[in-house]
Amino acid sequence: MLEPESLVIYGFALAIPAVYLTYRHFYVPSRATPQPASEPTRKPLKSIMQAPREDLAPPKDDPYTTEELKQYNGSNRNLPIYVAIKGTIFDVSHKSDVYGPGRSYSIFAGKDGSKGLGMSSLKPEHAIADYSGLDEKDRKVLDDWHSFFSKRYNIVGKVVDPPTSSL
Ligand code: HEM
Ligand SMILES: *[C@@H]1O[C@H](CO)[C@@H](O)[C@H](O)[C@H]1NC(C)=O
Repeated sequence: MLEPESLVIYGFALAIPAVYLTYRHFYVPSRATPQPASEPTRKPLKSIMQAPREDLAPPKDDPYTTEELKQYNGSNRNLPIYVAIKGTIFDVSHKSDVYGPGRSYSIFAGKDGSKGLGMSSLKPEHAIADYSGLDEKDRKVLDDWHSFFSKRYNIVGKVVDPPTSSL
């Protein structure tokens, strides 16, 4: 049996990476407090993530099956790269350096990997559409990703055969 002290330590050990990942991926510095001119060298900490876009096209509602979505995984250079989150399909082609074959987040290309996004996991077995097992905290992370993508990528359609348990 674990001592209560060990549980606290384990709790922190698990919480620190989770907080760190959320911080690195979603922290956006505030521009509300301008720096005094006497300190010109102090630059605000910048987000590691790409900025939102102003030039997004109106969202499309084209239907795709999970099977059809697979061909948009970046392996066919004549096709765009798609990532689906909670059934919404985003065109991530302009970030092929991240989602292309062999790149850091290729695991999410050509599919709906909602569960893995919610869990902050890159494991293949987690990159599935059925996020019904996620707790409230992970669902919030997943919703943050959905809104992150909505501000940066064009919506090209929706997945028409999502797993029934995630509806
Ligand atoms: C210590 C671990 C990690 C570090 C240092 C890290 C760092 C980064 C960096 C630097 C980017 C920006 C890439 C770019 O725009 O070119 C990024 C994007 C991203 N990260 Fe992580 N990451 C980590 C772990 C994870 C994990 C575990 C996930 C799982 C959900 C994840 C999901 C993503 C996604 C989906 C993007 C792409 C966002 C976009 O489309 O612009 N990251 N990460
Ligand atoms: C992408 O999908 C094609 C079939 O649609 C498959 O042959 C290929 O192995 C997949 N590539 C990756 C990197 O998953």
